[in-house]
Parts: sequence; C-alpha cells; structure tokens
Amino acid sequence: MQKNIAIPPLTEDLKGVLIDADTIARRVSELALQINSDYQGIKEPLILVGVLKGSFIFLSDLCRKLTVPHVIDFISVSSYGKASQSTGNVRLLMDTRENQAGHHVLIVEDILDSGYTLDYLKRNFTTREPKSVKTIVLLDKPERHVVPVQLDYVGFTVPDVWVVGYGLDYAETYRTLPYIAELDIEEIKRKEGK
Ligand code: PRP
Repeated sequence: MQKNIAIPPLTEDLKGVLIDADTIARRVSELALQINSDYQGIKEPLILVGVLKGSFIFLSDLCRKLTVPHVIDFISVSSYGKASQSTGNVRLLMDTRENQAGHHVLIVEDILDSGYTLDYLKRNFTTREPKSVKTIVLLDKPERHVVPVQLDYVGFTVPDVWVVGYGLDYAETYRTLPYIAELDIEEIKRKEGK
C-alpha cells in the first residue's frame, strides 16, 4: 500500500478543488464497468480515440480498467487557437491511425464545452464506416453548449468555471494536477495586466 503520496498544493491561481483524485478514480471505474458491460462480446476490438491533448490522462486511467478488447488511437484538432471561446472552426491537426471500418469507436474527451469538437469528430468518423461511434467525456459543461451533441457516457457535470487538472490546462499549465480545480481567471488576468 502506498503512503504519503504528495498531492500538489493549490497555488494562488487556483480557487479550490472541484473534484478530488479519489472521486475521479471511483467515477472512472464506474464508467469502465458500464463500457465493459455495453461492449461485452464484441468481435473486433473497440477503438478508443483520445482527443489530444486534454484526454490523455482520462484515457490512460479508463483503458486500464477495460476488460473488453480494445486498441488506442489519437486525434488532434484545434478550434480555440489562443482564445478562451471556441471559434467553431474545427481544424484537423493530426488524424487517427487505425482503420475504423467495421469497428465500434469510442471518442474519449476531457470536456464538452461548446460541442463543436465532438460534433465535428462524430460527423467525420461516421463517414469511415464504423459499426458505431459513441462518446465519453469526463466533464460536461451544459451552460456552454452551442451545438447539441449526444453524450453516451459522462463523468461529471460542472458549472461554467475555468477548470484545470487531470489533463485540462490553462496555457499548457496545470495539466498534470491529479485533481480538477477551478482556476482563478480574474487573478491571472490581473497579473497579466489584462
Ligand atoms: C478542449 C478540450 C476539448 C475541446 C472542447 O481542447 O480538450 O477537446 O476543447 O471544447 P468544445 O466543446 O468547445 O469544442 P483544446 O482545444 O483546449 O485543446 P487541448 O485539449 O490540447 O487543451
């Protein structure tokens, strides 16, 4: 049994922990159980497509709890640039490598915000003749939805605050925090003189 695991302390730019590491781990296990049950007996391996970069920790934890046959793939898209609001113009930066034809596909996302990214990916993958395309997101932010997207698995619903940690970043910082925290965006803007 591991003891004294260091949990990075909250910095002054973080308002507080929204979802702690134990709660995340429990929910990931529940989601994996559900997926194992839903895909039981599949002939071809399930293709898990992680959307870079934010999904990489969620995908890593989730896939290690799966008992159904599966393979890992990644895709990279961008719709934000440096803005905090999605432009709605999703660009494909790096495509997947697995052939999706005849396979069940599960798109793994860290967060659903406007919905532009998942809407684009679902439509794009559907043209590749998969058996099915489903979606799993760790966090859903309903107040920010612009495009309706059907979610098949959701970890947590979160309010409209800037969340970081467990894969999610602010300017590439905080991705490796083991918990989900709320960023003090006003404090950061004040420091940046905005
Ligand atoms: C974030 C997040 C999702 C997307 C969700 O990615 O990881 O992929 O935005 O937003 P949407 O629902 O408004 O489309 P981001 O572009 O910030 O890149 P990152 O994952 O590399 O941080």
